[in-house]
Amino acid sequence: METDQKIQEERAYFLRVINTFKSYQELSRKRIQHKEKCVGSLPNQHKKWLNKYYEDLQKLKEGVDKNAEFIPMVLKHACSMFDNVYCNTEMPQSEQQLGVLNEGLEKVQSVFKQLMRDWSSLGAAERKQCYDPIIQEILVHFPEEHYDRAEVQVLVPGAGLGRLAFEIASRGFKCQGNEFNLFMLIVSFYVLNLCKNVDEYLIYPWIHQYCNNHSVDDQLTTAKFPDVKPMPSAEGNFSMTAGDFLEVYTMKEEWDCVATCFFIDCAPNVVQFIETIYEILKPGGVWINLGPLLYHYSDVKKEKSIEPSFKVVCDVIKKVGFQMEKCETGVKTKYCQNPNSMLQYEYDSVFFVCRKADSINGQVNGEFNT
Ligand SMILES: C[S@@+](CC[C@H](N)C(=O)[O-])C[C@H]1O[C@@H](n2cnc3c(N)ncnc32)[C@H](O)[C@@H]1O
Repeated sequence: METDQKIQEERAYFLRVINTFKSYQELSRKRIQHKEKCVGSLPNQHKKWLNKYYEDLQKLKEGVDKNAEFIPMVLKHACSMFDNVYCNTEMPQSEQQLGVLNEGLEKVQSVFKQLMRDWSSLGAAERKQCYDPIIQEILVHFPEEHYDRAEVQVLVPGAGLGRLAFEIASRGFKCQGNEFNLFMLIVSFYVLNLCKNVDEYLIYPWIHQYCNNHSVDDQLTTAKFPDVKPMPSAEGNFSMTAGDFLEVYTMKEEWDCVATCFFIDCAPNVVQFIETIYEILKPGGVWINLGPLLYHYSDVKKEKSIEPSFKVVCDVIKKVGFQMEKCETGVKTKYCQNPNSMLQYEYDSVFFVCRKADSINGQVNGEFNT
């Protein structure tokens, strides 16, 4: 009974995500129409001077329509992703009654930006900054001469649209990405399993960024995806799981390597992430991390968020039992950045590699290491 109720709740949430995707075009157009109304309410002389702005708004509508073309294709396959469990369950309410998710529109918008980061050639520079150091480190720790890479298990929690996990799997490792955001999961399922040709789709990742544009062309910057054909190269040794990292990964000492990129600051309690990573790693296993400490829950009301500095995080890492083998600060990294915007965010990220003590050497508890 309890399980039935859980499935119904999950299905209700799933349907609201679908509804939110479906509402993208209408809500985004409404926002532009509101701007048209604002222009329409101005004095005639202002309207005349703003003719070009009015024309720009028409171009933005076309961009939104283009982005929206991708959505029905993705949604067509969303049910098969969960073996139709959510789609075949009877619900007391109709789909429409369930409505859309609050802040769902922003989630759809961020998927378009993440498509740029993970799967377009425009995102190559960001991926080089963020993913390459992690991949290089994995290659160094598990050299082909000493390891059968197909047997080396790498986990990427907070995988986003899956590119880092895919790249690791493409290098012969057994790699699993984990993600709990259904917007990301639905789109990554499509890209990873159903995109057939390179640069098959064109999107406007920053169409919703109305500020800091030199010209409307900045907002209308396009990205094509996927920049590589995802399907065949990583087949077999690549998988994605859906769900909260803390709930999905409870089996101790299962992974040879955990790779986190822009992830550890996604927890209200970063210590819980660190502890879980430690527990699920095999003795001698490595954790490779790159990213800032943006602490996503910091300003979320009613969340018990803690925001320890990197110094404190390092102390916790060692106290949990890890040995810090490498630690760099000031690693220049961007996240879904429009290269043409007047506003350029760049993180001085931290990059570190930790090893779980090897029980064979009797170094199980990290206290000796502090
Ligand atoms: C800032 S994004 C980084 C995505 C990707 N690693 C990258 O570098 O582009 C963090 C991702 O972690 C996911 N995430 C956050 N907390 C999570 C959790 N507890 N379990 C699984 N995924 C989580 C978010 O949904 C989001 O996609």
